[in-house]
Amino acid sequence: MEHSQRSRPVRPRRSVLYLPAGNARALGKLPGLGCDSVVFDLEDSVAPEAKDETRESLRSFFADGRAEALPAGMEKIIRINSLSSPWGAEDLLAARGCRPDAILIPKVDAPDDIAAVEDALDQTDAPATLRLWAMIETPRGVMNAGQIARMARTDGARLDCFVTGANDLIKETGVTALPGRPWLSSWLMQIVLCARAYGLDVLDGVYNDFRDEPGLIAECRDGQAMGFDGKTLIHPAQISAANTTFGIDPQQLAEAKAIAAAFAMPENKGRGVISLDGRMVERLHLDIAERLIDKAARIAARDNGDQVQ
Ligand code: COA
Ligand code: MG
Repeated sequence: MEHSQRSRPVRPRRSVLYLPAGNARALGKLPGLGCDSVVFDLEDSVAPEAKDETRESLRSFFADGRAEALPAGMEKIIRINSLSSPWGAEDLLAARGCRPDAILIPKVDAPDDIAAVEDALDQTDAPATLRLWAMIETPRGVMNAGQIARMARTDGARLDCFVTGANDLIKETGVTALPGRPWLSSWLMQIVLCARAYGLDVLDGVYNDFRDEPGLIAECRDGQAMGFDGKTLIHPAQISAANTTFGIDPQQLAEAKAIAAAFAMPENKGRGVISLDGRMVERLHLDIAERLIDKAARIAARDNGDQVQ
């Protein structure tokens, strides 16, 4: 079956925190943090000489019960090094053994980069519940984003989410990073569009200046307006801004409930379009409203510390 529309359950991914996998203090802090997801990083935040040791400490974190003790609703992702690097194959094996919710593949240039990881996982009989996320952070990755997202179109595919890699994109293209991201925006929008074409979630890149809260809030708002589901973060101080900006606006939720209630009335049964408080409301607005109501329930569950499906 083709997923040309968003058909997967809505999973809160307002705040997705990178954590260098060998940083013991950061790992110790994690249980108390309110991020929706955490990305244990083996890639860019780990120096080449520390790769093997870091992989081992991540294995222990998952093996000795510390990962299991994290809040039930916190989604766990492991970012591996690229399969074309000296560490990628070993990282993938280790990540698969840790049984996270998803593995994040860096520097995806083309569909083959996803296929290679899918094949390797299938060879180890990895469960279908182990999902894949893809970093779009190279010029070729942006150019091929549509073809890459298309990998998600068949049943059985593992690809769920695109993650924008802002720092790599700036490095690889030479654009100047400015507030408001004027020179990056067209590529960011391209990433959002391609993700949506095949029903993927899509996350905005990081904001490096973790002491600048107003700057972070402004960038979160831009990202939300551009259609991103949430923001990737580098520091615990950034979590609450992302949770707020990408959370549910109470007024929008009230409107969504009014739309759902209106379409549920007997006289509106079977009608494609109705009038509500002087506005035209179509069934497509009902779809949006139902999605928002569902998302609000899942966010409330996450904020309650409950398991989120
Ligand atoms: N996840 C969890 N905890 C973190 C954290 C993170 N990403 N970043 C910092 N912390 C913890 C610190 O360990 C420290 O805990 P402590 O009080 O128990 O010592 C506390 O938050 C305050 O940290 P602070 O002193 O303000 O920052 P720092 O100088 O220790 O670290 C960075 C700053 C940028 C090096 C660090 O935030 C970091 O490594 N971020 C992630 C980088 C990354 O993964 N990059 C790759 C993707 S772009
Ligand atoms: Mg990167």
